Amino acid sequence: MAKPEIRMTVNGRERELFVEPWRTLLDVLREDLDLTGAKLGCEGGECGGCTVILNGAPVVSCMALAADAHGKEILTIEGISENDELHPLQEEFLRLSSFQCGYCAPGLVMSAKALLDETPNPTEAEIRVAIAGNLCRCTAYVRIVKAIQLVAAQGGA
Ligand code: FES
Ligand code: FES
Repeated sequence: MAKPEIRMTVNGRERELFVEPWRTLLDVLREDLDLTGAKLGCEGGECGGCTVILNGAPVVSCMALAADAHGKEILTIEGISENDELHPLQEEFLRLSSFQCGYCAPGLVMSAKALLDETPNPTEAEIRVAIAGNLCRCTAYVRIVKAIQLVAAQGGA
């Protein structure tokens, strides 16, 4: 089967790839670009472990076709730190020990970042809505919500 060429900007870098039309964005990010931060969990749009930011909005990349990302900008967890320094959300999540196994963490960070980029001072309800699609099997979300509130109070993501 012919592999259409797609072009997308991933973490600020132009990428050109030939991918089969049925492959997901998550698969291409992980397998072709070695960006393994986004996690494969349910593979059905339910857990949020694969969340990345596409043209400014959070998407579950296991449900997005790579071909549909042609011409778009994608930000993954690997792209949010600068100069080898963790992003403020990562710092705060770590400081509060918000996670246990950490499998959900990349997706939660990306959902939180998309929220704070759009809504710098969210209410607790807005935070909970923003991360409602990110399932954590280990924690009670209290420290996750707290970390996002603290980053917002510090001036956002
Ligand atoms: S792996 Fe994509 S939502 Fe669960
Ligand atoms: S810390 Fe284990 S799934 Fe969230």
